[in-house]
Amino acid sequence: MTALGDTMDQMRSIFLVGFMGAGKSSVGAAVARKLGLRFVDLDDEIQARFDATIPEIFERHGEPAFRSAEREELARFADLDDVVVATGGGAFCSEGNREIIRRRGALSVFLDLPWPALRRRLARDNRDRPKYADADQAEQLFDERLPDYRRASFIVTLDGAESSEEVAVRVVEELEEASCVT
Ligand code: S3P
Repeated sequence: MTALGDTMDQMRSIFLVGFMGAGKSSVGAAVARKLGLRFVDLDDEIQARFDATIPEIFERHGEPAFRSAEREELARFADLDDVVVATGGGAFCSEGNREIIRRRGALSVFLDLPWPALRRRLARDNRDRPKYADADQAEQLFDERLPDYRRASFIVTLDGAESSEEVAVRVVEELEEASCVT
C-alpha cells in the first residue's frame, strides 16, 4: 500500500515545511481554522520551553540545543492527529526529523516559493533570524535545503503573490484530492 493509501480516511497531523519567509505560520493558522484543527507554531513551543526568544536560545545555548528541543517538540506533535504544525525552516532538513514525521504517519506539506520571492520577503522583514546573515548566504542555504523540502508528502507550488488565505485553500485542496482530509 502506498503512503497516501495509508493515510486515507484518517486524520493525521499536518506539518508545514519550507524556507524562512515562506509563510508557514500564517498559512498554518489558516489551514487549521479551515479544518477545525489546533494550530501549533513549533518555534513558539521552543521559545516557551526556554523562556527565551529564538536569537537568545541560539546565543545562550547554541544551535545544537535549539535543534534538540526542536526535535522533541516535533515528535510530541507528530503523535497527535488533530494539529496543524508550522515548523521552522531547518526542521525538515534533518533526516531524523523527517523519519519521525513519516513513521508516525503525519503529513508534510512543502510551501514551495521561488528564491526571488523569498529574498524579497526576507529583506522586508526585519526580524532577527539567526540563520539569515544576508541574501547571498541565505540563497546558498536555500539551495542546500531544497532537496530536503522536496521530500515532503505534498508540494504546493506558489509564486509568492498569493495571500495566506489563498495558500491555505490550495493546501486544503491538495489534501482533499488525496483523500487525506474530508
Ligand atoms: C530557522 C528558521 C526559523 C527558526 C530558527 C531556525 C532555520 O524559523 O526555526 O531561527 O534554520 O531556517 P522560520 O522558518 O519560521 O523563520
